[in-house]
Amino acid sequence: MMESWKERALARYQELKKLGKSFFPYIIYKDTVVVFLIFVVVLGLAIVKGAELEEVADPTDTTYNPRPEWYFLFLFQALKYVPGSLEAVAAIILPSLVILLMILLPFIDRGPRRHPFDRPLLTILGIVAIVGFIGLTVVGLESPLLNPVVHKDPQVMAGRKLYADLKCSYCHSINGRGGVAGPDLTTVGSRRERDWFVQHFQSPQRVTPGSVMPRLNLLPEEVDELVAYMMTLGGGGGPFTPKAPHLFQDHCESCHRLDGKGGEIGPDLTTLRTYRDKGFIYGYIQDPKPFNPETSMPGFKGTLTDPEIEDLSRYLLSSKREKK
Ligand code: HEC
Ligand code: HEC
Repeated sequence: MMESWKERALARYQELKKLGKSFFPYIIYKDTVVVFLIFVVVLGLAIVKGAELEEVADPTDTTYNPRPEWYFLFLFQALKYVPGSLEAVAAIILPSLVILLMILLPFIDRGPRRHPFDRPLLTILGIVAIVGFIGLTVVGLESPLLNPVVHKDPQVMAGRKLYADLKCSYCHSINGRGGVAGPDLTTVGSRRERDWFVQHFQSPQRVTPGSVMPRLNLLPEEVDELVAYMMTLGGGGGPFTPKAPHLFQDHCESCHRLDGKGGEIGPDLTTLRTYRDKGFIYGYIQDPKPFNPETSMPGFKGTLTDPEIEDLSRYLLSSKREKK
């Protein structure tokens, strides 16, 4: 049985070989053309659409949601089920073995049968792998983020780009990156008002006589963009979402005053950020008991999700709350 399969396959191969064209150069030529066309399309997309770049990585930033692109989510999710000490095995060794297996497959599997039902073991393995990929990707997509997702304001993004294009970091630093000729701008948003920024960018010398900061001759919209960016710097625990004020209204305002509005059962939280840090605030909202055994405030773990508690903490820490 096996013999006849093999003989038939070989005979058919010889037959086709007589009819057909050789692999080199004909098939290679076709492949090259297709690969080239795909390359042109990718190049075109890169030029026209470009890849979305994020902020420069900042190791001190705990407000970032690290997430791979969707096609690596399965690996990202799979790693969560592996203890830390085995991370290298799961992240490097196993995937390398799978790739090696793929490369060696034509040498290992030399049977002449092609139909999936004739090769149950490989078929089952293949199905398990595909279901695994899809399943892990879906679970990964749905797993909660640690930080609230703050949609980027295009004006702020434009301001950030101007900051880079105009080489402001030659004189200023943000989060430890940049020069020292001018003041550190890491928290400048909490120190200055909008109007001050506008005047400063129109003419630094008018605001600060004798300033060595160059006059930039910016267009009015460029000034607005830079100001929008500056205003985001130093907002306490990080940016909060537009949902945060509503969370406060719904869950906290009956007992706490904030910026002149709310109940009197608990302390006024308007100036909380001047004497409490993020860890305290976050923990207190989750469950006040470890901080204060006599507390009469309910814990919100379970009522609010972790990102909502994070969002509220940032809202309470922000110096720009009042102006929002
Ligand atoms: C040649 C160096 C230099 C460059 C380039 C420069 N600055 Fe300045 N900047 C200074 C100096 C010096 C001061 C402090 C004196 C003053 O307030 O004018 C300052 C002040 C500031 C302040 C006020 C800081 C505070 O704490 O009050 C802001 C905001 C600012 N610069 C933003 C920028 C931006 C944005 C750019 C890029 C478009 C820029 N600077 C480019 C030197 C520079
Ligand atoms: C039922 C009333 C009540 C509600 C609702 C409530 N709190 Fe409180 N909260 C209190 C009281 C009373 C205190 C004072 C200390 C204590 O009893 O725990 C307090 C204390 C706090 C503190 C500590 C303040 C400090 O100076 O150390 C924070 C922070 C806080 N609450 C935030 C919140 C937030 C955010 C919410 C909404 C998610 C909230 N609370 C909802 C009653 C409440």
